[in-house]
Amino acid sequence: MFPRFLDVPPDPCIIIILGASGDLTSRKLIPELFSLHRKGGLPERFQIVGCARSPMTTEQFRTALADSLHNVTDETQGWEQFSTRIHYRELIYDSGESYTELAGFLQELDADHRTEGNRIFYLALPMFLYGTTAQLLGEAGLSSQKSGGTGWSRIVVEKPYGSDRASAAELDTTIHRYFDEKQIFRIDHYLAKETVQNLLMFRFANAIFEPLWNRNYIDHVDIIACESLGVEKRAGYYEKSGVFRDMFQNHMMQLLALTAMEPPNRFETDPVHDEKVKVFRSLRPISEDGVFENVVLGQYGPGMVNGKKVRGYRDEDGVDPQSLTPTYGSMRVFIDNWRWKDVPFYLTSGKRLASKLTRISIRFKDVPVSMFGGVLEEGITANVLTLGIHPEERITLKFQTKNPGSKVCLRSVTMDFNYLQGYAGTVLAAYEKALLDCMHGDRMLFWHSEGIDLTWEFIEPVINQCEMCSDRVERLKPYEAGSWGPAEAAELKSRMG
Ligand SMILES: NC(=O)c1ccc[n+]([C@@H]2O[C@H](COP(=O)([O-])OP(=O)(O)OC[C@H]3O[C@@H](n4cnc5c(N)ncnc54)[C@H](OP(=O)(O)O)[C@@H]3O)[C@@H](O)[C@H]2O)c1
Repeated sequence: MFPRFLDVPPDPCIIIILGASGDLTSRKLIPELFSLHRKGGLPERFQIVGCARSPMTTEQFRTALADSLHNVTDETQGWEQFSTRIHYRELIYDSGESYTELAGFLQELDADHRTEGNRIFYLALPMFLYGTTAQLLGEAGLSSQKSGGTGWSRIVVEKPYGSDRASAAELDTTIHRYFDEKQIFRIDHYLAKETVQNLLMFRFANAIFEPLWNRNYIDHVDIIACESLGVEKRAGYYEKSGVFRDMFQNHMMQLLALTAMEPPNRFETDPVHDEKVKVFRSLRPISEDGVFENVVLGQYGPGMVNGKKVRGYRDEDGVDPQSLTPTYGSMRVFIDNWRWKDVPFYLTSGKRLASKLTRISIRFKDVPVSMFGGVLEEGITANVLTLGIHPEERITLKFQTKNPGSKVCLRSVTMDFNYLQGYAGTVLAAYEKALLDCMHGDRMLFWHSEGIDLTWEFIEPVINQCEMCSDRVERLKPYEAGSWGPAEAAELKSRMG
């Protein structure tokens, strides 16, 4: 008997995690697979193989994962039984022989556990290893979809997908040599968040919002994804990436597409993907000379976050003390189509901000004429619809009412819907949902090749200008950790009047 959140049980399979000694595996992948197991969402015939260079036995691997699990959750009942499904294999990432040995081991597991030759290869590795790994998996015969209806092979690729348009295209060419597009799952865990998925339901399953969802009624849109965390242990990656590669090319572009896209004719992978791609194609290009008309950059200094003193970015371990890497970006984007022409979308993301917050706010236009002109002391505040993704999974609508009493004065009130209100069923965390979709072969919540290329094409001139302009030092505005970013970000909006 399968739980209600599963319409169809996933096929038996083995998930092979490459780079399994790393942070992502211990902090996200294993805890969320374990959580799926506890919810009854995994197939009965299911095995996990962790692979990495670090010398370790399966027992040591299981112990290390159990220790990490305790840092993530108190709910560890059932771990002993679950951990018997976990195995560890040493793997040299650039050695063909190592992959041949892995192929042999997977065959043995298939025979022992009747996993039917179905495999998911999860690349939890630094990006520079993605191409080599895909190639050697292919050369070891591990990418082939066997005929006869059994035995599928899928590859999950983590972000970042390339560091610019050319490297993303090169990676695509390499992976496509061995895996078809339908076998490739480019993960963006933002897309698997319940409230992000809810955006499409909210827009297209209600008749009252869509007629207003355009340039005639909407003044501007704010999309914000802020973190209170700093760079943590990922300085090596972040120093090269910065906020635009880390957040804008992927998560911010997806949130933008879901907010702006036309209704797909069916709620299926290809129609949804096609509508997103049309948004990416309609993005007004930002020329290199126009970048600083539309972009504000920042880098966090020391400050207080959640009552604790924290270091500035340049003092973090592994960061160059002279670093010019932006940890904050705010960007004005236009979509040149009939629905959105000249409506600014402000995209903002940064580290070490006042709190962790992700939300989309739709600010409607002011009323055209106020009949209260001579009576009210203040103007009328515009309506704002806010789609909260984190921490508050809620939808709110701000509107005006009369204040009780004899004096004519307005007050803003908020209609408020909490996403989990009235729901007592299972909720899946983002990686749980993404892993489950991958087991089902459902690619709707994953990036497709064309979207990756178009978003890199759009963002690349911005990154180039930010990294190569002659006044780079002056362009990078310092902000205090625990604040809401550099004061200059507010100017982006005031420039529009
Ligand atoms: N951590 C996150 O929260 C997160 C979130 C989103 C995306 N990602 C992406 O997911 C991937 C994995 O993330 P992660 O944080 O787990 O990475 P990680 O801890 O830095 O690396 C994973 C494993 O890769 C191997 N490795 C690291 N550097 C290497 C090098 N220079 N040469 C060869 N092998 C090396 C190491 O294993 P061995 O030395 O044992 O082989 C390491 O344990 C990355 O691409 C990252 O950008 C991570």
